[in-house]
Amino acid sequence: PKITLTVIKADIGGYVGHCSVHPELIEEAKKVMEEKGKGLLEDYVVTNVGDDINLIMTHRKGVDSPDIHKLAWDTFLSCTQVAKRLKLYGAGQDLLSDSFSGNIKGMGPGVAEMEFEERPSEPVIVFMADKTEPGAWNLPLYRMFADPFNTIGLVIDPKMHDGFKFEVLDTIENKKVVFSCPEEIYDMLVFLGASNRFAVKAVYNKKGEPAAVSSTQRMNLMAGRYVGKDDPVLIVRCQNGFPAVGEALEPFANPHLVAGWMRGSHFGPLMPVSCKDATPSRFDGPPRVVALGFQLAEGKLVGPQDMFADVAFDKARQKALKIADYLRQLGPFEPHRLPLDEMEYTTMPQVMEKLKERFE
Ligand code: F6R
Ligand code: MG
Ligand code: MG
Repeated sequence: PKITLTVIKADIGGYVGHCSVHPELIEEAKKVMEEKGKGLLEDYVVTNVGDDINLIMTHRKGVDSPDIHKLAWDTFLSCTQVAKRLKLYGAGQDLLSDSFSGNIKGMGPGVAEMEFEERPSEPVIVFMADKTEPGAWNLPLYRMFADPFNTIGLVIDPKMHDGFKFEVLDTIENKKVVFSCPEEIYDMLVFLGASNRFAVKAVYNKKGEPAAVSSTQRMNLMAGRYVGKDDPVLIVRCQNGFPAVGEALEPFANPHLVAGWMRGSHFGPLMPVSCKDATPSRFDGPPRVVALGFQLAEGKLVGPQDMFADVAFDKARQKALKIADYLRQLGPFEPHRLPLDEMEYTTMPQVMEKLKERFE
């Protein structure tokens, strides 16, 4: 039977401000998963990056399972009670609806899940970011699955040499398109480069087997008002026809600029960190990414290994901090601050209204 790996995340209250998740919320989440996940889950891990709780689950119910989505929803609801009692910041903020209707998509939490045949050895990496948006995965996914300067396997591994297919979502019009790589990389990059609008939803090998899947909803648009950036997650299968673990991690050795950070309105470097350093506090950032590695064994999550804890990523962190210093000098000026139409907060309409008589 196939296994499904599901990651569902939500920010249901920050501690302190938008920095982290209070330990009592993690405890509550584990309690609910333990009780209500019995007979439903093969295994689970509860973790966090910044102010987001991440539920990593394995099960046999397939993708979009109402049972699994409801379990996550109920877990977040219980945690919200704790968050309200502790008066954590933004308690319940990502739960946009009052009642659960069968699928957690569109209700606030982010979802990434894939169903596949577990291989004789099945290494997977769950990437989780805070203070940024789904388009943050575009560049690293391109590097992992289409760039031979990152992934030598594309050149020298017969199992990878045919390339991969990218499913790209237009998050504004809610349409998708599939590109076959390497044949169509120039066409694809026209879209992937515009990561505020287009986001890679999934990657498949040429046999159609899933290689990677991300969470891509845009919560701020769904709610019709600002409710925070949609801090994204990404699942990547590794080895034996997929990128080696090191090829999947390598794109993060050179921090790229992503949208998010303070008030969801600034560009900043995506800094790879260990779980213990996933507490963005400088100017509410800079944006963070954590990578948890697992070996699946008959559905069990053997792990996690905290992949970015490796000292080999120290230089990437130093570089990110240098970039952060540089960008911070620009204060309220672009290109540190996002362009007007992409900011999550703006006073422009009010200021315009006040000054309209004075414009000539
Ligand atoms: C960024 C983020 C924070 C808040 C900021 C202001 O994603 O969540 O930077 O935007 O702390 O928060 P409010 O508007 O709640 O005072
Ligand atoms: Mg928050
Ligand atoms: Mg967050």
